[in-house]
Amino acid sequence: MADIAAKEMEVRPLQNSQGSLTNFGASVRGVDLNNLNEADFLALKKALYTHSVLVIKDQHDLLPAKQFDLNARFDPDAQPTHGLGYGKTLKELGNLAKKPFYSIPGSGGVTLVGDGYQGEDHFGLKNLSLSAISHVDFHADPLTDAELASGQARFVNFHFDGIIYGSHPSRVTTFRCVRTPKGPNVTVSWNDISPQAISCPPGSTAFISTAQLYNLLTDEEKTTADNSYWQPAPHPFAWTGSRRVRSSGLGMAATGQTLPLEDLPEWSSDKVYKYPMVWLSPVTGERCFQMFPEVTHKLYLKDSPLGPERLIEDYEEIRVWLNEVLDRIAKPEYIMVPPCEEGDVVIWNNWGVLHSAIEFPASYGSRSMHQCHIASSTAPVGPATTATG
Ligand SMILES: [Fe+2]
Repeated sequence: MADIAAKEMEVRPLQNSQGSLTNFGASVRGVDLNNLNEADFLALKKALYTHSVLVIKDQHDLLPAKQFDLNARFDPDAQPTHGLGYGKTLKELGNLAKKPFYSIPGSGGVTLVGDGYQGEDHFGLKNLSLSAISHVDFHADPLTDAELASGQARFVNFHFDGIIYGSHPSRVTTFRCVRTPKGPNVTVSWNDISPQAISCPPGSTAFISTAQLYNLLTDEEKTTADNSYWQPAPHPFAWTGSRRVRSSGLGMAATGQTLPLEDLPEWSSDKVYKYPMVWLSPVTGERCFQMFPEVTHKLYLKDSPLGPERLIEDYEEIRVWLNEVLDRIAKPEYIMVPPCEEGDVVIWNNWGVLHSAIEFPASYGSRSMHQCHIASSTAPVGPATTATG
């Protein structure tokens, strides 16, 4: 039954496909993001932190500047600029900066992302052709061009948004679907533990709930996670070097080398944060096992608030420990791919889910998305204490 969150706004949990065990995601109707009053914003915020991912229908005329305003309303004290920090280079951002960022003029910091030709004039961006970040740059065992062209695909990589070094991940990310590619479903497959596959529309974004991941831990593991911390490397996306993710896009492969810290661009330790392993939802208090596998440089494991701390810096030990946790959720039944039509705005709790792009054959045509996230003004808070800088 629909949950009427405010006058005229209808929030309806997404229908699960057969066999799905996901417990998050909702669609929202009856809201105009160009004219969002405070009561509707508060209802939307409550819905977001209840359902983690919202698909807001019928936003065909949303102005990019209003999309940016929506992000800013979730974090009024944040610096009003896109979270990836324009002007940073491949040297600082690694694969994240492999493709240029295109900010929509006058939007405040909404970025055009997608694939293919974007038209003569896309909201002031003239004659752009985009090429999305490919899983080939992130995976240890990528598909071939012929496999991709045939409709096979991979999750590019599951992550939360933000550059992490010197700024905290955004509280929310908004993603407006302007143009979808047209073609049959793609088949996403992986075989890190055993052969797995899902079928989904081309141009989709996949999500996993890190609250669900937390709840897949044993009671003993939950206690350890509640009291433990992780630390990204300085300039984490440059530091990853030649390391690559597994075929699920979740967790690291055994091969590859990180960069020595002395080979990174200049950095300072006050910008390298130590994050809780479990992040509390700012609204519901729900516990989320929120780590970024590729960039994890150190683990600080503690089994109780006053117990001894075990520092793990060995890459292989971190990899094996973390993959063992992630394996529990890298399964079709825990991965949610919300239906997303042109005109929809998807918004997610960036502190409570991980998301991944999914590639599609170039023959399916262009994809145009307006994406926005802004670095959080505060660090995520864990059950034991907060992050320290
Ligand atoms: Fe992202």
